[in-house]
Parts: sequence; C-alpha cells; structure tokens
Amino acid sequence: VGHESTRRGALVVVEGLDRAGKSSQCEKLRDYLSEQGHTVKYIRFPDRTTPIGKLIDSYLRGSTDQEDHSIHLLFSANRWELAKSIQEDIANGITIIVDRYSYSGAVYSAAKANPTLSLEWAWQPEIGLPRPDICLFLSISAEEAAKRGGFGAERYENEAMQTRVRELFRTLFERQEDVSIIDAGKSLEEVSKDIQVVVSECVGRLGATGPLRTLGPLVN
Ligand code: TMP
Ligand code: MG
Repeated sequence: VGHESTRRGALVVVEGLDRAGKSSQCEKLRDYLSEQGHTVKYIRFPDRTTPIGKLIDSYLRGSTDQEDHSIHLLFSANRWELAKSIQEDIANGITIIVDRYSYSGAVYSAAKANPTLSLEWAWQPEIGLPRPDICLFLSISAEEAAKRGGFGAERYENEAMQTRVRELFRTLFERQEDVSIIDAGKSLEEVSKDIQVVVSECVGRLGATGPLRTLGPLVN
C-alpha cells in the first residue's frame, strides 16, 4: 500500500483517409478520456513545427519538391524525433492520442507507385518506434468521402491518390495486430461512442499488456 508505481499511459493512434473525421474524433476522445480521469495529450503527425516538419509542410503545400524516398524518410524522421518524449510521457502515466502515424507514413508513400518504394520498403524505417496499444482506422467509402466535400489544396488530396491509399491501408491493416476498423460513415456521435468502447477496452487491459512495445517488421 502506498508503493503503487505509476500506471503507464496508453498510446492510441487514429488513422484514416482525409475527411474521415480524424481530428474531430481525436478531440472527442481526448475530452472523454480526460473526463474519465486520464491525463491526455493530443499530438499529430506530421508535426509541422520542428525543422524537419517545416520541410514536410512546404512539400505538402507544394512550395518545394522532394525526391519520393527522401521525403518518406523525412516523415519517418519526424516521428523519430518525438519518439523519446512519447516513451517518457507514456511511462509517466500520460495517455497520448496520435492523429496519423507510421501507417499513413507507409501507405501514402507506397501509393506513389514508385517502383523502388514498396510498402515493405516504406515500413522499414518505422521499425523500433513506439508501438501503439491500439490503432483505430476510421473507414469511409469513397462515395461518403466525396459527399463530405471537395479535396483540399495539399499534395495527395486528389481522387487517384486517395483511391490507392484506401487500398493500401486495407492491405497494411490485414498485416497488423491491435487494429480496430471503425465504420466512420455513421454520425459523429455514433462513431465517437464506438471509439470509446474500443479504447476503454484497450486501456482496461494495459496492465496485462506490460510496458510500451516497439513496432516490428511487417508480418505476412
Ligand atoms: P494531415 O492532413 O493529417 O496534416 O496530413 C498531411 C498529409 O501527409 C496527408 O495527406 C497524409 C500525409 N502523410 C504522409 O504522407 N506521411 C506521413 O508519415 C504522415 C504522417 C502523413
Ligand atoms: Mg490533410
């Protein structure tokens, strides 16, 4: 009694196509977990505030060009530069909600159909990063996505790219554990409730999960 060590936080990743509602759902999840008494941080990748993040931002806005492999490695480096602080926060009992992570990293780059940039190649630099306790994939159909309004002005925000990204997310998530596919075509409230159920379950089994793990190679 009185010697209980700090219970670690959970690493929760939210993934999905543009317009799947990731940001709104991350905010709702943050509020929910805070109400449940958790200390919560909400971060997103790319983190456009660091020097590497500024290069990525300029690439995404179309102000600069980058070779495909090179920009891929910058996106990965942008996660590596935050890896230690994520590990420390989790160990200190902080739960972190992450808007996009290694899954977006691998899938968007592989969607470029560059012959030497396969999903396998793209996944390699992610190996060893903090491994999410749960990854929620907010899934919407192409039709539903189209209904939610036009594309933005950034690189990748076009029909052809989004179609390939959708297929590659499916391929990747067939090869990952700890992924929960959420039907994001429902209302904001319904989706939020579905997410709460999955995340509560994940947080409940953290004791049995042990310390934060690291991402491993792709399994077949
Ligand atoms: P955002 O719209 O969530 O700010 O993400 C910006 C774009 O960057 C989005 O089209 C997905 C893409 N992306 C990558 O290509 N690689 C990555 O590693 C990440 C995190 C995002
Ligand atoms: Mg976007």
